[in-house]
Amino acid sequence: MSEKESIGVVGAGWVGLVTAACFAELGRPVVVREIIAEKVDTLRRGEVPIHEPGLPELIEKNRERLTFTTEMGELLDAARLIFVCVQTPPTYSGDADLSAVQRAVEEIGDPEGKALVMKSTVPVGTGRIIHRDAPGLAYVSCPEFLREGTAVKDFMEPDRVVVGADPGDEWAADEVAAVYEPVGAPIVRTDLSSAEMIKLASNAYLATKISFINEIANVCDEVGADVTEVARGMGMDPRIGGSFLNAGLGFGGSCFPKDTQALKMLAGNIGYHFQLLSSVIEVNELQKRRVMSKLSKHLDSLVGKRVALLGLAFKPDTDDMREASSLVLAHRLEGEGATVVAFDPVATERARDLLPSVEMAGSALDALDGADAAVLVTEWPEFAELDWAEVAKRMGNPLLVDGRNFLDPDAVRAAGITYEAIGRPSLPDRSAVG
Ligand code: UDX
Repeated sequence: MSEKESIGVVGAGWVGLVTAACFAELGRPVVVREIIAEKVDTLRRGEVPIHEPGLPELIEKNRERLTFTTEMGELLDAARLIFVCVQTPPTYSGDADLSAVQRAVEEIGDPEGKALVMKSTVPVGTGRIIHRDAPGLAYVSCPEFLREGTAVKDFMEPDRVVVGADPGDEWAADEVAAVYEPVGAPIVRTDLSSAEMIKLASNAYLATKISFINEIANVCDEVGADVTEVARGMGMDPRIGGSFLNAGLGFGGSCFPKDTQALKMLAGNIGYHFQLLSSVIEVNELQKRRVMSKLSKHLDSLVGKRVALLGLAFKPDTDDMREASSLVLAHRLEGEGATVVAFDPVATERARDLLPSVEMAGSALDALDGADAAVLVTEWPEFAELDWAEVAKRMGNPLLVDGRNFLDPDAVRAAGITYEAIGRPSLPDRSAVG
């Protein structure tokens, strides 16, 4: 592939936009095809429809190399490598919904000498089925491992790039590997199905780590150990590793809940009961109950109580509300008779339609005004900077459940606030001393 040859990206969602902007940054002209005309208009005006740090700057900087279009033909005329970055949300059954992939595949057709490069997360075996129906088109699996909030950095400095293709399509895999060459990461070359499985297995494993530490936290609560200390001590063993051992409300977002379900279903559909993964999913669903039990330790009933949620997005640095713990919590709190008020630095607008009965506050302090309890749901850095004396003054009843084990317990307690965390019962209440 020549230096200047264009790359095609199908889908201007979060993965597609990050991928397109980063390939442009690596010097490639990129044609992005998006089916929604308004989105194309927005992007042509230079506006970025999602919150992702660094992305607007990157798109602005590389405007010359980025073309946004609704026409698949324009993309096919320009590019040999076609990166498919469309959504694969879960269906009601938990299987991946491949309708957007199928539509893209149909529109691409079966042109000779071109390659479909699948970035979207699809069930293992999808590539071989697509390839069987379009044998002229080479097929490469190149799954994305981008985290929301750090996606640009993850793209530019990946731990590895996985490139999977079956015999006959090696030329296309070589070209994909060449496109990624400037990022300097190890390239893992595999067959098609193994590449698809690497993505699902990686996410399932990370989700397993989270559910594992959450269960350890729940036991810590009962036996008087501090899960943050336990995780610190565990993580120093390189065989375990310290990341993804933060106990709390559990995982959310657009990937882990969907991919764990999809892998469980994939196994189930071929007659294998993936017991461990089933438990990982169940533990995650039950984890929100911990917050409810922490609240009921201090409040006899939630009827008529005002509960403030600090944070709504599924994690900081994103406005993504998909599978956010705040959705489950807000409904559960309202179900128990509480009034819920919430603040999030960026996700409030997106959350409004999803949580119509929740009062959206303009600041964290406004949300805490007169509250009988507060729950930290998303660990936005600004919440660690709150003036706790002011918080204590504003709250009707100063009770705070830290759903992410994020805050400094001493600072919160020193202000006279009752502090509860997940799996940290042994913390001495230093506010009572002196
Ligand atoms: C994830 C994967 O990390 C990425 O490789 C994949 O391509 C897409 O899915 P993302 O969904 O952006 O990325 O978020 P991530 O930072 O991985 O966190 C996922 C969820 O797990 C969040 O809800 C987070 O709060 C939770 N989490 C993470 C924990 O509860 N504890 C941890 O220790 C780590």
